[in-house]
Amino acid sequence: MPRLFTLSTLIWVLSLSTTFISAQLSSTTPTRCSGYVASDVTQGDTFLTATLTLAGFCNLYGPDVSKLRLLVEYQTDFDSDAYHVQEAVLPRQHLAKGGSAETSKLHFSYTQSPFSFKVTRSGTGEVLFDTSSAPLVFESQFLQLRTQFPASSNLYGLGEHSDVFRLPTENYKRTLWNAESPFVPRGSNLYGSHPVYFDHRGDSGTHGVFLLSSAGMDVNIYTTSSGDRYLEYNTIGGVFDFYFLAGPTPVEVSRQYAEVVGSPAMIPFWTLGFHQCKYGYQDIDTVEAVVANYSAAGIPLETMWGDIDYMDSHQDFTTDPQRYPLQRMRAFVDKLHQNNQHYVVILDPGIRHSTAYSTFNRGVQQGAFLKNADGSFHRGRQWAGEVVWPDWLAPGSQTWWTKEIMSFFDPATGLDVDGLWIDMNEASNMCGEIDCFPPAQAAPPGRHRRLFGPFASQAGLRKGLPGRNLLSPPYAIANHLGPLWRTTLLTNLTNADGTTQYDTHNLYGHLMAQRTRAALLARRTLKRPFVLTRSTFAGSGAHAAHWFGDNASTWSDYLLSIRQMLAFSALHAMSMVGSDVCGFNGDAEEELCARWAMLGAFQPFYRNHADVTAPAQEFYRWDVVAMAAKKAIDARYRLLDYVYTAMEQASRDGTPVARPLWFAWPGDEETFGIETQWLWGEALMVSPVTEKGTGEVRVYLPPGEVFYDFWTRKRVRQRDEGWTLIIGVSLTDIPVHVRGGSVVPMRIRGGNTTAEVRRENFEILVAPGQDGTAKGTLYLDDGESLEVGGAKSEIEFVWEGGRLLMSGTFGFDTDLVVEKVTVMDVDGGEAVMMTGQWVLKKGLAFELA
Ligand code: NOJ
Repeated sequence: MPRLFTLSTLIWVLSLSTTFISAQLSSTTPTRCSGYVASDVTQGDTFLTATLTLAGFCNLYGPDVSKLRLLVEYQTDFDSDAYHVQEAVLPRQHLAKGGSAETSKLHFSYTQSPFSFKVTRSGTGEVLFDTSSAPLVFESQFLQLRTQFPASSNLYGLGEHSDVFRLPTENYKRTLWNAESPFVPRGSNLYGSHPVYFDHRGDSGTHGVFLLSSAGMDVNIYTTSSGDRYLEYNTIGGVFDFYFLAGPTPVEVSRQYAEVVGSPAMIPFWTLGFHQCKYGYQDIDTVEAVVANYSAAGIPLETMWGDIDYMDSHQDFTTDPQRYPLQRMRAFVDKLHQNNQHYVVILDPGIRHSTAYSTFNRGVQQGAFLKNADGSFHRGRQWAGEVVWPDWLAPGSQTWWTKEIMSFFDPATGLDVDGLWIDMNEASNMCGEIDCFPPAQAAPPGRHRRLFGPFASQAGLRKGLPGRNLLSPPYAIANHLGPLWRTTLLTNLTNADGTTQYDTHNLYGHLMAQRTRAALLARRTLKRPFVLTRSTFAGSGAHAAHWFGDNASTWSDYLLSIRQMLAFSALHAMSMVGSDVCGFNGDAEEELCARWAMLGAFQPFYRNHADVTAPAQEFYRWDVVAMAAKKAIDARYRLLDYVYTAMEQASRDGTPVARPLWFAWPGDEETFGIETQWLWGEALMVSPVTEKGTGEVRVYLPPGEVFYDFWTRKRVRQRDEGWTLIIGVSLTDIPVHVRGGSVVPMRIRGGNTTAEVRRENFEILVAPGQDGTAKGTLYLDDGESLEVGGAKSEIEFVWEGGRLLMSGTFGFDTDLVVEKVTVMDVDGGEAVMMTGQWVLKKGLAFELA
């Protein structure tokens, strides 16, 4: 029985999957593939199905699939051998909505022979996706599809990468294959895979294209000598399952994408505080000293982090008896909690392979680990030495992982952590080669895991096509580590559900995040969990926050943090993201660290972290960095509710927290390539100094708009062409502008911790636009409950005609009041301040005298 569901009319789904594979292999490779011919077309108001039959053998990188099934706009549980991302990994059922071709904003059309299709905007006929320039190739280990795009397209996305934010359109390759990536190399695959791009065409609109596939892939973007532009998918497996996101505004595309993959999880309020970490804090005394030093320096520290140093021989769920004795750690965590501070520790997926290690033994009992074909454990190397790897698709892995987490992090007997940091989950295997470990026990010759061998597919169950070379597929993607299996798990391993690592590799970190979140939810059923993950896949934001991995203390990586933040926040539905502030690798010098301390304060996840080989770089190490950090953290903390409000909206409807300028000015071409300024929520624009040795920054303030300096609260004199030079930006300054037309809720003052800040009253900052009006929102809740029910306030502020009106819902019980209203002067004069004790109540209005 097919299960049908229709999707929102703003989101079109097109799914190309196999019905069966040709048993025949032509001996000659044609120079040109002929593609497919469509037949048996059935078209209803809400769907279209067809059979695509191979028009002639192509055999570019293996056998062609002779018949394909085409489905447009809805998905069914039809039989298919080809692997498709499991529903449990990325749920799609919620997309059932009911749409029709008639009312849809997108129109699908096709050509029968050779089969190709187009997606156009219904109203204007604008072509958004057009595959007619090259035949579709669908082989067992190579799928190719090409679309053409016009010169007006600006493409963004296809993360995770460290390249320019607006993707190059000449000779550019984006490889998606999750990989250990020290120094976040440019032009290569990194830790996560997000096969979605945004195509922004200025005034004619923005749309998105999401290919739901975890297959390794190269996406080539190029322009031919005749000026034609193409985006070409080359995947080594899976199916073509496309989601077309109609927009037409950029924010709407973000929301539609979040609707498909899941909105970012709502964060606990405290996670917006400042975090300190370092690999190489040798003992608990050192960690205590760091906390004490922050306090002595007067720099608010919200959360201390424990890297692998705390573990006994780097084994998860242990503490080092000498350097980090459990009782000392428990006392330390208690003290942090008494001060309203927090503690987060790291866990790695590599579980020490030893029967002397009880975590390993319990995992064995639960069938939690990946096995070789001969039934022995698949071994590798990680921090703990020789390790085995959780099979996150084995049901027992959740039981085991949850129990380990609940018992080791039991507040009564163990470490009462506030969140978990999961690392090395690409998975990163220090045994990079194919033959680091001999088989565990004598396996029959030729049956141990080192064999290159086809995987026996279970027909129709989407476990992967039969007869594939799972270690060295004929088409090699441009993985920066070389072969697919290098420095990770062997791709010919079979998961507990019958799928293989070949198909699920890119999901390993996502699954670990899912499992870890579920474990934390079991541990504290009523509180929002906090998980930070290095490796991600489309939709990981629903489970975890992300940092950008092992960057370096360089100006280039300082700037990189902006475009990575923009990509994850605005394009990949992951709000809580940030870089290692001051840089992970190498020596952070004073000037860079001061600038980064300020930049990080206006990014979602704000953590200073460095490698074991890097010198200490806590903010208090240099006077000027300490001053910069204090100023930045104070501003960040006063704005916590404003950011929290944006986070809440993101978790509800996918509206991004940090966004590129073109999201706000989609018709202004000048903004399309800007990647060193960003919008921090709706109202604030951040424009950091971008170079060493200068106090100047050229900022773009779009013409025709009013902007105010956040710090001086004065209106900024703009240039007609939009570019303004700001000079004299000291090491303790960062230009931040308030957009006219906004109301920004702030706290009257900052505090040492987010808990302290939450006790402060409010100041409402009003930035009138050209027409003299302004508006903004404020969301309040207890900051930690998973379900807040009615105990929340969703307040709207409207400034008009000299009056500030407050309306909305006021379910969050609070004695706090609005102590101050500041209205900035649209003509550049002094801001007007009013002080009082206005309770947060419905319909309340302040009138300017
Ligand atoms: C690699 C992570 O990216 C880094 O942040 C961490 O410090 C080290 N592993 C050690 O755990």
